[in-house]
Amino acid sequence: MLVNATEMLQKARDGHYAVAQININNLEWTKAVLETAQELQSPVILGVSEGAGKYMTGFKTVTAMVKAMDESLGITVPVALHLDHGTYEGCKKCVEAGFTSIMFDGSHFPIDENIEKTTELVNLAHKNGMSIEAEVGSIGGEEDGVVGMGEVADADECAKIASLGIDFLAAGIGNIHGVYPANWKGLAFDALEKIHKATGSIPLVLHGGTGLPEEMIKKAINLGVSKINVNTECQLTFAAATRKYIEEGKDKAGKGFDPRKLLAPGVAAIKQTCKEKFELFGSVGKA
Ligand code: 13P
Repeated sequence: MLVNATEMLQKARDGHYAVAQININNLEWTKAVLETAQELQSPVILGVSEGAGKYMTGFKTVTAMVKAMDESLGITVPVALHLDHGTYEGCKKCVEAGFTSIMFDGSHFPIDENIEKTTELVNLAHKNGMSIEAEVGSIGGEEDGVVGMGEVADADECAKIASLGIDFLAAGIGNIHGVYPANWKGLAFDALEKIHKATGSIPLVLHGGTGLPEEMIKKAINLGVSKINVNTECQLTFAAATRKYIEEGKDKAGKGFDPRKLLAPGVAAIKQTCKEKFELFGSVGKA
């Protein structure tokens, strides 16, 4: 069931768990995430970066695929189709294409410009029944060409952006896209606490969900995080399972080269990763 992400995240906030945003790349990814969410009766957010949207030939293709697949698989759990780290133009394209949710990442603009553009996009999203996420501070590392220095968000700026009518807020708290480096200092929980106090009841978003240990996840949820984004981890588990299949020579046996067979272990690996995240974030059975 395709919906916007507002209600599922308010329920997560009130129920003290988080909904996973799993980024998708193609048909296999989408199917794996939807089937796992349905099996575990978990709400889920399908994240699409601008790069992934382009790879799949455009946001209209993505919407058509997700809508049709949601219907043909008989998915009854709430699913949001969400633009990840959208530009101003990308947000507008996703509104036109029929996404149910957008993220406007204006974090690299001066705060006044971030406020101005976010305000405009809040109106546009809400007029179209969509939810909208905004960002303050930045997420370290790189995702699909979006590079951040990892600035920890200022609580007053977060309060300003939260007051614009956005539905959920991503705040940089030392989190990083991709694999966390060995010398990583950990999440800035003192900053998260201040942001949570300053922004009231707005659901907070934790980007960079790959590899975060259980105690950090639990602590973040306690401090207002209701959505956790995972991208790299599915890519890593998919790649490892595919590599194993080929290194074992299975693509050479019988019709093992058939793409439906060749990609099957990778798909199973994505499903396993999704299952682990839904369990860790506490969203199983919350559909
Ligand atoms: P990871 O790739 O680190 O899981 O981060 C995903 C993310 O935050 C998407 O915006």
